[in-house]
Amino acid sequence: MLGEHPVLLFVFGTRPEAIKLCPLIRELRSRQTWAVRICVTAQHRAMLDQVLEAFQITPDYDLDIMRPNQTLSGLTARILEALEPVLAHAAPYMIVVQGDTTTTLAGALAGFYHRIPVAHVEAGLRTGDPAHPFPEEMNRVLTSRLAELHFAPTGGAAANLAAEGIPNGRIYVTGNTGIDAVLFVRDALESGAIAGSHWLYPNNGRRLIVVTSHRRENFGDGFVREMRALARLAERPDVEIVYPVHRNPNVLGPAHELLGGRANVHLLEPLAYVPFVDLLRRAYFLITDSGGIQEEAPSLGKPVLVMREKTERPEAVEAGTVKLVGTDEDRIVREATCLLDDSAEYTRMTRVHNPYGDGQASRRIGEVLAGRLKTNKENLAGRVK
Ligand code: UD1
Ligand code: UDP
Repeated sequence: MLGEHPVLLFVFGTRPEAIKLCPLIRELRSRQTWAVRICVTAQHRAMLDQVLEAFQITPDYDLDIMRPNQTLSGLTARILEALEPVLAHAAPYMIVVQGDTTTTLAGALAGFYHRIPVAHVEAGLRTGDPAHPFPEEMNRVLTSRLAELHFAPTGGAAANLAAEGIPNGRIYVTGNTGIDAVLFVRDALESGAIAGSHWLYPNNGRRLIVVTSHRRENFGDGFVREMRALARLAERPDVEIVYPVHRNPNVLGPAHELLGGRANVHLLEPLAYVPFVDLLRRAYFLITDSGGIQEEAPSLGKPVLVMREKTERPEAVEAGTVKLVGTDEDRIVREATCLLDDSAEYTRMTRVHNPYGDGQASRRIGEVLAGRLKTNKENLAGRVK
């Protein structure tokens, strides 16, 4: 049966891409319209494998290209080169990429070079500033130029694409597939269908501040200021800081150097997705520079302080549940202290809302892709596996 279906090739490589594509892969596999094939670049190795394991997804192709402290150029070149034989072997009808990483851009570019149409999931996010976040903003802009189908999570993202001249007929507002994942795991944790964290949270009445940080533009001074701010917050006797540290060496070493050795600061290995969502549920609030966490936290009613100057996800900032605090040490401490000491402000920021999706994004994308296949049957000659 599968042998008669056209091939849809997913190309992804990092933790967030995997979290946001696994729900879509499961949806498309359940529809049996496509022969779904998966190529992981493994731009991330351990952090990618954690997600594949959680969603029980086995790749068909694994490029295994991660190197310690890899450079953007080296990574891009290795991905493009390694995709050549995969595209020749898989002969996909369409390639699906997600987000704004080096894998996203290289996957879209490889599709373009091979004249294979590209669908971009989470399209249209923009800060308008190529330096923030770097290099992700430019990766998104370039991927939009290369892609044929654009799945925008919000109306705002769709408007950004339209303003860049992308025809409306190629843009679909679907919600973010990351919200499909987080709501599914939240519900399963709440119902007891899956077990929560393997880590024993201190049960001492202190409030849990969950931290993550990994943006390239903050490496160096910005990161030092972030860590100093956290060290000052840790002086309070009523907080417990839990920080699963990204494996990037520009983060891992400095985080341990600047924050290690404090009883109420827990520097952990990156958590698998289910324990991390469990941690989000238990958090009092988050301090992060992550893109995905800015989307997930409002769905769980958790306030977020974002250690960035600009965000491509303005919806929750406008709604007042996410606040941009940059990397200024005093500002981070001030805003976190306000959340800890001002209960009215805290309550205001805990409103549960879903600006980024309702848990149905994968279904909507699946419908668009199925419809597209129906209208393009004549283009399929030679591409059916
Ligand atoms: C990448 C993405 C970023 C995304 C982030 C998600 C680019 C340019 N950046 O940034 O958009 O927000 O992933 O986390 O695509 N490492 C490991 N093991 C792992 C993962 C990473 O050891 O499982 C280390 C390696 O030394 C690697 C380094 O981290 O060279 C950097 O990884 P890379 O993917 O280049 O950059 P990230 O900062 O992770
Ligand atoms: N996440 C995780 N374990 C962790 C930290 C984060 O599973 O220890 C998840 C988080 O829930 C979100 C995604 O990873 O879905 C965000 O990835 P990251 O912050 O690395 O990248 P970004 O979203 O900034 O591109």
